[in-house]
Amino acid sequence: MESLEWSKLPFGYHKTKVNVRCFYRDGKWSEPEISDSEYLPIHISATSLHYGQAAFEGLKAYRGVKGDVRLFRWQENAARLRSSARGLFMPEVPDDLFFTCVKTAVLENIDYLPPYGTGATLYIRPLLIGIGPEIGVKPANEYAFIVFVTPVGPYFKEGFNPVKIAIVRDSDRAAPLGTGNIKVGGNYAASLRGMLKAHEAGYSAAMYLDSKYKKFIDEIGAANFFGIKSNTYVTPYSSSILPSITNKSLQVLAKDLGMKVEVRPTPFEELPTFEEVGACGTAAIITPIGEIVDLDTGEKFIFCPDGKPGKYSKMLYEKLMGIQFGTEEDKFNWITVIG
Ligand code: PLP
Ligand code: COI
Repeated sequence: MESLEWSKLPFGYHKTKVNVRCFYRDGKWSEPEISDSEYLPIHISATSLHYGQAAFEGLKAYRGVKGDVRLFRWQENAARLRSSARGLFMPEVPDDLFFTCVKTAVLENIDYLPPYGTGATLYIRPLLIGIGPEIGVKPANEYAFIVFVTPVGPYFKEGFNPVKIAIVRDSDRAAPLGTGNIKVGGNYAASLRGMLKAHEAGYSAAMYLDSKYKKFIDEIGAANFFGIKSNTYVTPYSSSILPSITNKSLQVLAKDLGMKVEVRPTPFEELPTFEEVGACGTAAIITPIGEIVDLDTGEKFIFCPDGKPGKYSKMLYEKLMGIQFGTEEDKFNWITVIG
């Protein structure tokens, strides 16, 4: 195997040894197969290609401080994939199949699991797509469930340092009663316009407001939003937000640290009242936000004036990473050791 500079890895695709695949035909899932191909031959009329019958998940394997191989709350990812499957009329992947495929994909590619202390992790990407041919708009009769892995570094090049975010108003990633609350490919295609607009203006990611009133904070790119004030962790409630497993975990950790937690619609006018704000997700972990600009009005909200993450964000980041890498007690039973 080639040698990798673990601490310099970007968040990107890197070929590994194998991936794991199962197929749904005649109403049942096949046994998982291990493949060394990065390609999937697919019918030109597959529903995933035309009509967006495609959902995915994102979780990580961590090399623990004691050398063990750790998954974080994989059951939550399995449950969310089932919810995405229901949302797009695809067959659900049962927990045991999800776990077998994830575990196999990690252990078969164990040489690609970054060592402890490098800042890198093994990102796991389960993918569920319609592969049966249709031309009328209807659910496919065949599906593929694929799990591949790729070693990754930080999602934002800034790492655990404040990033700059731009509020984008002239495109929406999801509709109020659409698919924002499930993890489906179309949401990400729809988010590209806002993301590129933010990048062109020199910002790391777009903040999306609710698409109906353009008043409440929805999400930040591929991450949830949180704000902290008066010892309270505040995170938006909205029907078009993807329920983040990281966010859910931070709410538990915040309570455990003696903070209050509020999950409620969060108007963007509230931004100046927060002492700290951040983005959270599997890829983003906790990314502190130093500046939010409204691209339409030019209005700017500044946080982290000393250029450093705030104390609550740091505390939550350290607790979460501590549990993931095994330097903190796994008080809430979030970790599954697979090797
Ligand atoms: N929001 C969106 C749109 C995402 O794509 C992700 C990434 O999965 C998240 C939030 C964070 O979710 P999680 O913490 O489960 O990774
Ligand atoms: C994650 O945080 O796992 C994500 O899915 C982000 C991804 C879309 C790059």
